[in-house]
Parts: sequence; structure tokens; C-alpha cells
Amino acid sequence: MALDSEKLLKNASPREQVRRYLNKIPIRSQNPKSDEADTLKQLRDLLEDKNVSLIAHYYTNPAIQSLAEETGGIVSDSLEMARFGQRAESQVLIIAGVAFMGETAKIISPCKRILMPSAYATCSLDIGCPANQFEAFCDDNPDRTVVVYANTSAAVKARADWVVTSRIAVEVIDFLDSRGEKILWAPDRYLGSYVQRETGADMLLWDGSCVVHEEFKVQGVLNMLNIYPDAAILVHPESPKGVVDLADFVGSTSQLISAAREMPNPQLIVATDRGILYKMQQAVPDKQLLMAPTAGNGATCISCGDCPWMAMNTMEGLLDCLTSEKNEVHVDPLIADKAMVALNRMLDFKK
Ligand code: 13P
Ligand code: SF4
Repeated sequence: MALDSEKLLKNASPREQVRRYLNKIPIRSQNPKSDEADTLKQLRDLLEDKNVSLIAHYYTNPAIQSLAEETGGIVSDSLEMARFGQRAESQVLIIAGVAFMGETAKIISPCKRILMPSAYATCSLDIGCPANQFEAFCDDNPDRTVVVYANTSAAVKARADWVVTSRIAVEVIDFLDSRGEKILWAPDRYLGSYVQRETGADMLLWDGSCVVHEEFKVQGVLNMLNIYPDAAILVHPESPKGVVDLADFVGSTSQLISAAREMPNPQLIVATDRGILYKMQQAVPDKQLLMAPTAGNGATCISCGDCPWMAMNTMEGLLDCLTSEKNEVHVDPLIADKAMVALNRMLDFKK
């Protein structure tokens, strides 16, 4: 499956590349409600007949999340998606998520076929970190251990010593720091600076960001707290520092759901993609969930708590990839072999 970063102008800055990409993405399509029940039945039967595992991220359409669960697949954060894909018995996996998740599944399970509902679902962090520019950054800093976030292309992972997800980023950097290693971190500068503050490690950061989390605003969260003074604030660490500083809990998507369960507060203000509300509300049926505001000073509302690429995982796309086996993920074996080394460190870390 072709990723689009190469199509972007090579000399543009990471931010400019993301902006240009966002201008090009197609308008999302929504399945008409009346068709949904029929489509769901068809999907359920196909998954079972073809023995395909559906692995979905929390940010995807709730219908896809519930289908994954009821057919023996999984809904999880990006770390567990990778682990589940590796141990799944099915030889065909559908990854309902974004490109890096499909590539990771292919790299760690090279003999399985990996399909995706959309060939265009990528991530602003992946787009904003083209492999050629990243390699030059690494070459300029040869004394640093290269740690990349999972939200990167296979080629970027191939240049890394470690891959991490938000669930284990702090622990891995703490471990490397305790060995006296200096870190080169890419691509999310918000997550990178959060990890730096938590660990005190010496980290050099790439200038990338998530267009969804970057939009959360301190003033908006404070205004909401004025209205709901008993609310707890749950924040994904891809959010800006000011928002992270207000948080009662910071963590990966699955950690946020666990925290929602443990918090005694009657209301929870949630700063991450709104897709998470589906599983979070199931976990805490008696609590009121409130999306953190993205409006306010400096707001562009490019995505507003709604990842445009995750939204490309539609029921039609899923049906299409199950019936015509479309959008198969392929990774150059030479790149995959190199990326596997850094990915294995992630998968083996505190197994
Ligand atoms: P998680 O690893 O927390 O699921 O995050 C993935 C992601 O893309 C968040 O924007
Ligand atoms: Fe990437 Fe942000 Fe979408 Fe996650 S929410 S996939 S980091 S653009």
C-alpha cells in the first residue's frame, strides 16, 4: 500500500507537509443508518467464514469497535493492537486504524496477510517525519539513541534503535536514561517534551505534532472546569503542555479508560479523539463524559477531536476489503527486517 509522504514536496517543512496533506484528504463518507444492520450482519458472517481477525483502534467508528469485539478481535491502544496481531491465530488480519498500525502488524507478522479498510488513512505524525529528512537528523546526531514513536513509517522505524507507544514511552526513556544514554526523539514534540519533563532525560526532539491533540486549548478546559468544578481531566500526552499540566491523569488511550474507571469524579473532561468515548462510556456508564474544548484563541479546528484518518475506517471500506481483499499492506522486506529490531525491543519491554 502506497503511503503518501513521498508525494509531498521534499523540501517543505514537516508542518507545511502536514498542512498540504490535510487540504487533500477526501471528505469522509458515513454509512446510512438503514443499511447498517444488514452490513453488520454481512461483515460478521464474512469475518467468521474467512477466519479473519478484526483489530480496531479506540478512535474508529463505534460500529467497527463493537464488531471487532463480538467477532473475537480486539479494540485497544496501539501497543495492544500490535501484540494482539502477533498472537492471533488467524492468518488474515484487518487493521481498522491508520497506516503505521497496518505496517507494524505486517512487520511483526510477515507471514500473515494484513488488510486495511482505507488505503489513505495515515497520521499527521507519520506525514510530518519523512524518512530522508529523519535520516539526516540522525546522521547529524550520531551520539544519541534513536527512539521513535510508533506513529511513524516503517522506513523511519528502520533507522531507530527503539520504537515506543505512549503507553510505555516514559518507562522506556527512564530505562535508557538510567543507562546514561542521550536520546534523539521523533516525531511528536508534545509527547517528547512530556516524557522529558517526567524523566529528566537528555532529549533532542523532532518538530512533529498530532493535528487532533494539538487543538486542545487550556482556556477552553478551564472554562469547562468552571462549569463542572468536580470533573477530573484526562489527557492524552500528544496534547500541548498547558493542557497536560491541567490533567489529573495523562496516558495512552487504554490507560485513559482505566483511569476513567478509577477516578471517583462524576464528570470526566477528556482530551483525546472523541472515538474513545464509546468504550469509555461502557466502562463508566454512570459518569458524564465531556470532550475537552478545541475552540478558543489560536484555534484552527482542522480536526477538532476527530482524527480525519481514523474516520476513513468506514463500514463500506471494511466490507470492500473483506470481499475483494483490497488495501493489502506490504512492507519492503529489507526495511521490515531493520524495523523489526526496534519494534521487538518495544514488544519485549516488560512483557
Ligand atoms: P495510543 O497508543 O494511546 O492508542 O495512541 C495512538 C494514537 O494515534 C493517538 O493519537
Ligand atoms: Fe495520528 Fe493524531 Fe490521528 Fe493519532 S489522532 S492517528 S496521532 S493524527
